[in-house]
Amino acid sequence: MRVRKAVFPVAGLGTRLLPATKVLAKEMLPIIDKPLIQFAVDEAIAAGCDTLVFVTNRYKHAIADYFDRSYELEYTLAEAGKHQLLDVIHNILPAHVRCVFVTQREPLGLGHAVLCAQPAIGNEPFAVLLPDDLLLSRTQPVLSQMVDAAQRLAPAALVAVEQVPREQVSRYGIVDVEVTDERAARMRRVVEKPSVEDAPSDLAIVGRYLFDPQIFGLLEKTAAGVGGEIQLTDAIAALIDRAPVLAYRFDGHRHDCGNRAGVVQATLDLALQSEDTRQVLATFFATRSDELGD
Ligand code: G1P
Repeated sequence: MRVRKAVFPVAGLGTRLLPATKVLAKEMLPIIDKPLIQFAVDEAIAAGCDTLVFVTNRYKHAIADYFDRSYELEYTLAEAGKHQLLDVIHNILPAHVRCVFVTQREPLGLGHAVLCAQPAIGNEPFAVLLPDDLLLSRTQPVLSQMVDAAQRLAPAALVAVEQVPREQVSRYGIVDVEVTDERAARMRRVVEKPSVEDAPSDLAIVGRYLFDPQIFGLLEKTAAGVGGEIQLTDAIAALIDRAPVLAYRFDGHRHDCGNRAGVVQATLDLALQSEDTRQVLATFFATRSDELGD
């Protein structure tokens, strides 16, 4: 599985982060000084992708603008000799990477969004990254881990999973796997947003997937499921019956940046990792710890 193309479904409304997301795409919200979408894009590029397919809607022009050249800004920075900042701008997208924008005209679900990308993907393997899920790893970026595993094991799909608290299973696609102690395990069953009672386990799908193109044929046949939406999970469930599908327990951790708690955690996590902000955190908590309560 050589994966060159990555799909970013970015047509969601981001209602959990209103009012910030009223006019600003949630994918453009910064974690300190980097928009959320940049983390997912960097991960895709690190894994070898050179074609980024954004499935977007009529309100999300900021994402296309962000990945476009900004001649005026570049000229001004160059004139002022601000070469470090110029590098920051140039590093948004390496020269060998291209962007494709596809419109999802109606909000019919994640499965539908992925199907909208089909003309840009064609007949080759591809990745799907949900930018809300910010995945950090100390060893290797998560999508690269997945590509390595897929090259070894040649599945029809490989899906990132992690354990979640039992009471949260109804927020996720939940998988049932054959062996529970290996990073990559064959998936037996998957259910989108089950109730706590019906959940086959506490292993949840997080927003990283690798697919071979046969998923498109299954998505075409997938009827509306949970929430009246065409669910990617339902197409994966259909794929399990005909080809090996693997759940992959990645090395790293996740922040769900589609909600307030996740944004705060991600911000603190990244602040801890950078010299200039670590000291700010230390001073802040040293002087304000009495406000934290028990
Ligand atoms: C989507 C998927 C779900 C997955 C989740 C991960 O749900 O449908 O299977 O577990 O992403 O973030 P959403 O968060 O869009 O409701």
